[in-house]
Amino acid sequence: VSASEPFDVVTGAFSYSGSAIARRLLADGQRVRTLTNHPERAPADSPIEAVPLDFTDADALARSLEGASTLYNTYWIRFARGAVTHESATSNSAQLFTAAARAGVGRIVHLSITNPSAASPYAYYRGKALAEEALANSGVSHAILRPAILFGGNGILVNNIAYFMRRLPVMGYGGRGEYRVRGVHVDDLAELCVAKAAETDNTTTDAVGPERPTFKELLRAIKTSTGSRAVIVPVPAIAFPVLTGAIGALMRDVLLTREEFEAMADGLADVEGPATAPIGLTSWVADNAAQLGREYLHEVRLHF
Ligand SMILES: NC(=O)c1ccc[n+]([C@@H]2O[C@H](COP(=O)([O-])OP(=O)(O)OC[C@H]3O[C@@H](n4cnc5c(N)ncnc54)[C@H](OP(=O)(O)O)[C@@H]3O)[C@@H](O)[C@H]2O)c1
Repeated sequence: VSASEPFDVVTGAFSYSGSAIARRLLADGQRVRTLTNHPERAPADSPIEAVPLDFTDADALARSLEGASTLYNTYWIRFARGAVTHESATSNSAQLFTAAARAGVGRIVHLSITNPSAASPYAYYRGKALAEEALANSGVSHAILRPAILFGGNGILVNNIAYFMRRLPVMGYGGRGEYRVRGVHVDDLAELCVAKAAETDNTTTDAVGPERPTFKELLRAIKTSTGSRAVIVPVPAIAFPVLTGAIGALMRDVLLTREEFEAMADGLADVEGPATAPIGLTSWVADNAAQLGREYLHEVRLHF
């Protein structure tokens, strides 16, 4: 990417939502630079310029954003591990926005989450609220998109539920399983991101598809679509994170943290209100069952 040609910056263009956004931009003929922890994951023929996502050098971070029309920010962490916490992710996000302001970036499209709150009992949701605040304070023109759960492409959650349902005789849900999940397809999210980049107002929008099945309904949809014979059973809410923790440990991974389960059971993965994206979660499951859950997708190996 030469400084004189217009380009956009996407964080994590070799990971999940960032790769969908980058694909969408490249299809439009846009030049793309990515800030990433994994420049070595660039496919051999990738036209994307990869620059390290380094929060320890504020000047280099600002330089890496100089000349960019839009910064698409997907950077966040799913769960804390060692020194990497939601607090550090929040301050890193703030640092990224400051760097973008210094670099004169025209617009930031930022991925948040449904129902963020500075008063939330959950560090993820608190951090997301504070990151949104830092973005508003940066002075850069911006659009915030709030998905609840992403699916499609290399999405981990739905795939790994299908993986276990294909192999295990039973599949559990925590508590009553009546809490809803409002999914958005990763390509629909990318489309929304690009549309929001073209606007100029500061906006906040839930990025959500048309369906909001309960978790139990989602399991039933995956079971029917994949031909799984697993019996779907309730697990007491208190025991569910222990169970997912134990299976995660067996897989040397993190399946679903206690906080992720509790936030979902509290209804935070759902919003009312109109769909802003077309593809529905269970209809996508039905259409893509043949590939779903054939392989396990390993979160920890991807990011730690
Ligand atoms: N996935 C979902 O279901 C979901 C639901 C609601 C909201 N969101 C939000 O949507 C955004 C994108 O999510 P995603 O699932 O598409 O994420 P992702 O692609 O897995 O990661 C997004 C970015 O964060 C970086 N990152 C992830 N884990 C990290 C870690 N442990 N340490 C340092 N950097 C890390 C990645 O860096 P590298 O690519 O360089 O490794 C990448 O730049 C996030 O803001 C997330 O909060 C996601």
